[in-house]
Amino acid sequence: MTLEVANLTAGYGPLKVLHGLSCSVPTGSMLAVVGANGAGKSTLLRAINGLIPASGEVTLDGESILGVPTERMARRGLAHVPENRLVFPGLSVRDNLVLGAWSNPRNPPLDETLALFPRLATRLSQAAGSLSGGEQQMLALGRALMSRPRAIILDEPSIGLAPKIVIEIMDVLARLRDSGGLSILLVEQNLSAAFRVVDRAIVVAHGRVVLEGSPEELMSAPEVRQAYFGGLDAGSP
Ligand SMILES: Nc1ncnc2c1ncn2[C@@H]1O[C@H](COP(=O)(O)OP(=O)(O)OP(=O)(O)O)[C@@H](O)[C@H]1O
Ligand SMILES: [Mg+2]
Repeated sequence: MTLEVANLTAGYGPLKVLHGLSCSVPTGSMLAVVGANGAGKSTLLRAINGLIPASGEVTLDGESILGVPTERMARRGLAHVPENRLVFPGLSVRDNLVLGAWSNPRNPPLDETLALFPRLATRLSQAAGSLSGGEQQMLALGRALMSRPRAIILDEPSIGLAPKIVIEIMDVLARLRDSGGLSILLVEQNLSAAFRVVDRAIVVAHGRVVLEGSPEELMSAPEVRQAYFGGLDAGSP
C-alpha cells in the first residue's frame, strides 16, 4: 500500500522538529531516509505511527491515518520497528513473535516469519535478551511482520551490527518488497547498505527534505558526499 506523508509538522511540546515534511513510498517500493543526527528522522517515524501529535497529512492508500492511535495502526496495515530493537528481553523468542500478532491473533504468520529468519527458528525458547544484537534486530523485524503489515517503517536497523548481518537484513527487506509488495520506509545512516536495496532516498535536514532522488543521484550529490564521506572526496566522481 502507498504511504504518503504530506506537509507534516510535529515536535515535542514547544519544540518543533518537523517543518512541513513530505515524502511518498509507493506500493512495493523502498525509500531511505537519511540525514544528520537530530535532523528529525526518528521524529518522522513517531509522527507517522501516531506516537506524537502531528499536523499535515499521512495516508495509506489514500486513507488518512493521522491521529489514529498507535495501537490501531497495526490493523490499518502499518508496522513500526523502533530504534534500539525494543524486544521484550525476559520473554522467549516465540512469545515476542506471538505478541507481534496481537492485532490478528487468529492467523499469525509464524512459519513465514521464521522462514525469513532461520536463525530465530532454532532459538524459539531462548530469552530474547540473550540473543545477539543481530538476532534481536531480526526478532524486532520478525515481530513487526507478525501483524501482516502492508507498510513498514524502520529506524536504523543496522545500528551496531556486523556488515554481514546488515546485508542479511537489507536483503530480507528487499525480498519483502519484491515478493510481498510491502512498502518500506527505512531510516538508515549506513548509506552503502541502504542504497544497495532502496528505490529512492530523501535527505532530511532540520525537519525538511533537502534532497530527493535515486541512490545513484544522491551518492553523487556533493551534500551527501560531504556529510557522509567527509570533505576529502567531495566533488570527485
Ligand atoms: N522525547 C523528546 N522530547 C524532546 N525533544 C526530543 C525528543 N525526542 C527527540 N527530541 C529532539 O528532536 C530533535 C530530532 O530528534 P530525532 O530523534 O528525531 O533525530 P534523528 O534524526 O532521529 O537523530 P539520530 O540520527 O541521532 O537518531 C532533536 O533535537 C531531539 O533532541
Ligand atoms: Mg533517530
